[in-house]
Amino acid sequence: MSARIKPLVAGNWKMNGLKSNQAEFYKMIAGIPDDLAESVDAMICAPATLIAALADKAGKGAMAVGGQDCHAEASGAHTGDISAEMLADAGASAVIVGHSERRADHGETDSDVRAKAQAAWRAGLVAIICVGETETQRKAGDAVSVVERQLEGSVPDGATAENTVIAYEPVWAIGTGLTPTAGDVADMHKAMRQALVGRLADAGGSMRLLYGGSVKPANAGELMAVSNVDGALVGGASLKADDFLGILDAYSRS
Ligand code: 13P
Repeated sequence: MSARIKPLVAGNWKMNGLKSNQAEFYKMIAGIPDDLAESVDAMICAPATLIAALADKAGKGAMAVGGQDCHAEASGAHTGDISAEMLADAGASAVIVGHSERRADHGETDSDVRAKAQAAWRAGLVAIICVGETETQRKAGDAVSVVERQLEGSVPDGATAENTVIAYEPVWAIGTGLTPTAGDVADMHKAMRQALVGRLADAGGSMRLLYGGSVKPANAGELMAVSNVDGALVGGASLKADDFLGILDAYSRS
């Protein structure tokens, strides 16, 4: 991990969470050590139905609340969609865009993702832009070129370390219990850093690069120690307070 960049550990609850699950969030907030915010930023990206309630509960404390997707427009005739402005209004401070599940389930392209990132900025939200190769692409030796192409197409001009976070999530590692080797993560994050610095200069050098895909308390320490890994995007393990707190603990000890 780059020593000068404060890590972000963000949980992605995906399409999980009823009102009854708010108790798990309260347990997380209660379990966060008072000094955590000095060493690591924590966030839960909740389903839209829970954002307002969780954000109210989190207040201005150590846990931020984010959304999982937004429409590119601020408002209009888009039944069922949610805008970045609505997420901000509900209390979110960030939004995930371009998660591989949205790219696969909803056919989102790099240019769709770029427009959503710009929408996030327009609403004052941090855009957490996801990239990552499939298993077939990795086996073909194309992982780095695929991710470089996604970065080029999905990250808008004007991205800064303040308005953008990048999350590398190899599709084959999501929800499978599989993770790349530390060496493979290091190679990918180095390539991403070089691409971002090449395009955005200093902003690319200080932008947070998260790793996501089967992060658990047991492997968080090893992943955190990898050069250019500045945090984690956590799926399944963010649904349980004990697991998420365990991951936060690993990052806070970095
Ligand atoms: P898992 O941690 O469940 O593998 O999910 C990762 C992810 O997709 C986070 O966005």
